[in-house]
Amino acid sequence: MIRLQNVHKNYGGCPALTNINLHIAPGEFAFLVGPSGAGKSTLMRLLYREEAPTTGMVFVGGVNLNRLRANQVPLLRRKLGIIFQDYKLLPRQTAFANVAYVLRALGVDEREIARRVTSALCVVNLENKGDAYPDELSGGEQQRVGIARAIVNGPPVLLADEPTGNLDPATSLEIVQLLARISERGTTILISTHDQFIVNATRKRVIALRQGEISSDVDSGFYDAEPSAMQNIEG
Ligand SMILES: Nc1ncnc2c1ncn2[C@@H]1O[C@H](COP(=O)(O)OP(=O)(O)O)[C@@H](O)[C@H]1O
Ligand SMILES: [Mg+2]
Repeated sequence: MIRLQNVHKNYGGCPALTNINLHIAPGEFAFLVGPSGAGKSTLMRLLYREEAPTTGMVFVGGVNLNRLRANQVPLLRRKLGIIFQDYKLLPRQTAFANVAYVLRALGVDEREIARRVTSALCVVNLENKGDAYPDELSGGEQQRVGIARAIVNGPPVLLADEPTGNLDPATSLEIVQLLARISERGTTILISTHDQFIVNATRKRVIALRQGEISSDVDSGFYDAEPSAMQNIEG
């Protein structure tokens, strides 16, 4: 479902990703881990075609992103649900309207929108919060609206870049468990994080990046944040 072949990405002369080879099968749930600066966000941005690789090939859902014309990028985005660390909700729109936004833009009729949005809010346990505005919701609830928005169109792939970066540990775990339940329905999910707590509590595939290279890739893996990273947190 996701494949990178010999991918290199440089910013200016500086390598951010070096010779990445990676395959994530349909329905798989994987973490992309590594300390700050390891290249996690860069890899994610290649997958939703926010950026192009310097060399190498990226495939999502069988589509070679190098061959995607600029006017086809919105088409790719509809196959992908994207979840952000800072939620990116529209502040003056209700939870319902935030989730409905993409469907309205696609011209889906209102009855179908109501059906799909209600269903997506139900999946994230926010069926009673559709009328709430983002500033009336907790961080965890706002992120669940973000997840409902990402799944409302039934995309085969969900990408989440540090989705729990602004949340406390208990709420972070709830969010990851919610994503794990969604993946059991067949959605392919890749979550980038530097949070070893959520990774180690979930025991799924763990792909580790270190200085732009894949340093390990293990099923049911653990993540031990590097000693230098721990010192930075403690210091
Ligand atoms: N837009 C950019 N321009 C220049 N350098 C960048 C840009 N984005 C990221 N980098 C650099 O690429 C490397 C990887 O960054 P990033 O992918 O953000 O890592 P992570 O998400 O793991 O913290 C870092 O050295 C970072 O400074
Ligand atoms: Mg990042």
